[in-house]
Amino acid sequence: MSLDQNLNKILIIDFGSQFTQLIARRVRELGIFSEIISHKKIRLKDMNNSVKGIVLSGGPLNVYQINKYSFDKKILQQNIPVLGICFGHQILSKLNGGKVRQSKHREFGLAKVYKKNNSLLTSNFFGNKKSKQVWMSHADQVSKLPKNFKVVASSTNSKFAIVENKIKKYYGVQFHPEVTHTENGKKLISNFIFLICKIKSNWSSEDQKNQLIKDVRIQVGTNKVICALSGGVDSSVVAQLLNKAIGKKLYCIFVNTGLLRKNEEVQVVQTFKKRLKMNLIYVNAEKEFLKKLKNVFDPEKKRKIIGNLFIKIFERYAKKIKNVKFLAQGTLYPDLIESKSVTGSQTSKIKSHHNVGGLPKKMNLKLVEPLKFLFKDEVRKLGLELNLSKEIISRHPFPGPGLAIRMPGIITKEKIKILKEADYYFIQALKDYGLYHKIWQAYAALLPVKTVGVMGDNRTYEYLCLLRAITSEDGMTADYYEFKKSFMQSISNKIVNSIRGINRVVYDVTSKPPSTIELE
Ligand code: XMP
Repeated sequence: MSLDQNLNKILIIDFGSQFTQLIARRVRELGIFSEIISHKKIRLKDMNNSVKGIVLSGGPLNVYQINKYSFDKKILQQNIPVLGICFGHQILSKLNGGKVRQSKHREFGLAKVYKKNNSLLTSNFFGNKKSKQVWMSHADQVSKLPKNFKVVASSTNSKFAIVENKIKKYYGVQFHPEVTHTENGKKLISNFIFLICKIKSNWSSEDQKNQLIKDVRIQVGTNKVICALSGGVDSSVVAQLLNKAIGKKLYCIFVNTGLLRKNEEVQVVQTFKKRLKMNLIYVNAEKEFLKKLKNVFDPEKKRKIIGNLFIKIFERYAKKIKNVKFLAQGTLYPDLIESKSVTGSQTSKIKSHHNVGGLPKKMNLKLVEPLKFLFKDEVRKLGLELNLSKEIISRHPFPGPGLAIRMPGIITKEKIKILKEADYYFIQALKDYGLYHKIWQAYAALLPVKTVGVMGDNRTYEYLCLLRAITSEDGMTADYYEFKKSFMQSISNKIVNSIRGINRVVYDVTSKPPSTIELE
């Protein structure tokens, strides 16, 4: 990897922490360009004039495991300020003659750090308090400070929770300032960047967009790229980014599975083909999906059938485009870490997520994943920068298998029609009441039970509609949204009165865990 030599930056040396990308994100948020490089790849020659500050990340290693050949001590002796975080703090101390040993008490989670001395790093960090809450995650700790270092703050278990060597501009923190659980953590990072490294803001969403466009052009050259467009935020942003980067060399394929939200196919074609003038191949595969799903009621089977058929159809149409070398995907950073636990082992499988992951191997395609280091809200910002409408950018997530997993039991054309209507009324009501953007995800589901009702003196025996609306940060955990009674009354009346086939509405009040967001 060669580092960008043109832009002043903060260089993040990665020791394998699950939070390294979060450090980069915080630096970006402060309007500064940053680059991440593995401790195994960094070389002294990379320390050019553009590096204005170095952050050493945390990591699962023990300082005594770092091979001296993989990390040259001279890298830290170039008169460039250094901030060591957690493991980075330990290695900074160790390389300067300090000692690190296993802590008597391991610290995971929240802890308090108490101010001991003033430092530029902690300017306005403690405010008028003597302590701050921070987030720790360590088993080892610095047990002896190197020469010329002083303590800035201590926790109950770590005497050297914040340290500095003012002359050399070396700073170390045992906790993680990049995570939101650390109170005022961003202030520490900001102090390091602006007061210590004295770097000026040079990185905006527009710069990020231009850099990503440049990277895509370098990666794909004059080759053709295909992209599965779903109309969701991530695939829309990827498609539009590639559209800007390579124009007509991009071919988007949009498969209508018949399991999409009401009018979705019309909106996607309107936006991407008509307004944004992309090469968009629209495939209406409603019948094919319905046929394959006939009489299937097992959720995992539904997911497998839909995923496989999607890939088959996508491949069928992709083959018609000659000489395609790349497949673009809207993989985000959380997608990359979701499949790995902290130790790098696989987590247990709850649901098979539907994506086009099987394609590159089968079709001999290389992947273009320009969003893979971004978080969802950064992708949304990028989308706006790329002139995508607010409506597309702030849509609720929608799963690949679509309405199929919101309809426990068998799938029929009639049930899909009923569900599309119920979902449409629910989402429309959320928008009308100004609630849509307060909710992370909302949808209607159709349960495979019929219950008795009475309408105009007549007995009815119809389906049960379930509404789900949740608040969440990232979809990993969720809580139900608390509606006012007036809203619930209004939407339940609207659904029951307008849709033939539903005579009862229930609201799902379970959180995730123990439930999941989708029903299947
Ligand atoms: P669960 O149901 O696992 O959902 O709590 C978490 C989030 O993931 C979405 N989801 C999917 N997204 N393909 C996707 O692209 C899928 O197969 C899939 N299954 C669930 C779900 O809508 C929620 O936002």
